[in-house]
Amino acid sequence: MTHFHLLLLLSALITVSFSQKILRIFPGDTQISNGNREWINNDLFCDSWRLSVETNNAGYWATIPARCRGFVEDYMKGDHYVSDSEVVAVEAIYFARDFDIAGNGKDAWIFDVDETLLSNLPYYIEVDFGSEPFNETSFDEWVALAKAPALPASLKLYNELQRLGFSLVLLTGRSEAQRNATEKNLLFAGYKNWERLILREASDIGKSALIYKSEKRAQLEAEGFVIHGSSGDQWSDLYGPPMATRSFKLPNPMYFVK
Ligand SMILES: *[C@@H]1O[C@H](CO)[C@@H](O)[C@H](O)[C@H]1NC(C)=O
Ligand SMILES: *[C@@H]1O[C@H](CO)[C@@H](O)[C@H](O)[C@H]1NC(C)=O
Repeated sequence: MTHFHLLLLLSALITVSFSQKILRIFPGDTQISNGNREWINNDLFCDSWRLSVETNNAGYWATIPARCRGFVEDYMKGDHYVSDSEVVAVEAIYFARDFDIAGNGKDAWIFDVDETLLSNLPYYIEVDFGSEPFNETSFDEWVALAKAPALPASLKLYNELQRLGFSLVLLTGRSEAQRNATEKNLLFAGYKNWERLILREASDIGKSALIYKSEKRAQLEAEGFVIHGSSGDQWSDLYGPPMATRSFKLPNPMYFVK
């Protein structure tokens, strides 16, 4: 056999094993409808699902796939979540350090709160990491406790941006009624001296997060702020006009906010 033939054979083998693996995860695939789910490598599927969530290919979803519950638990409680968040923060710091800050207090960086500055993991452990549909009542009870820890990577980024001279604006989907609890929690977690904390007023209730946050960014720009960076765990924290110069998406495989 020549080298060329060997190459052909190898590429054919690779193509076959690749397509078999992929075909097994398609919804209509006979392997699945026959109930041979154990054939599918769950961790591989769930890691691919997680990538589709982070890139927004998945679009809206209400609960995590049942078979990914263990995967999401391992991801959130282990090193993976910590490491992914750290890398996002480091990329943001590299970007931020390249700026010459004007010094007029108008160089802004926007932070989302939940799963960005604060980690609600203690709450999400109780509700099975997003396996259950979102329960506003129990989440609000958790918010009122004001006991969410900081996401360590975000606290480091926050402090570094402040040292560089950025004005930090916190823009959250939480409601104005939760201002006190949110401020208390942010201080408890180690955040200080934010420029502004923006929560949903009565007129914002019912708006999608994407519309509400875009409107608030527009208001900030109208006030003269230049939004250099934005950090959030949801695309709806970041996407929609006007956008920050750079947006930094933190991981969140537990829930999706429109
Ligand atoms: C939502 O949470 C509340 C408060 O903890 C609880 O009473 C209620 O049963 C929950 N609803 C569902 C559908 O689980
Ligand atoms: C928030 O705290 C302030 C001052 O501590 C108090 O006057 C106000 O009533 C509180 N608001 C709510 C919604 O609890």
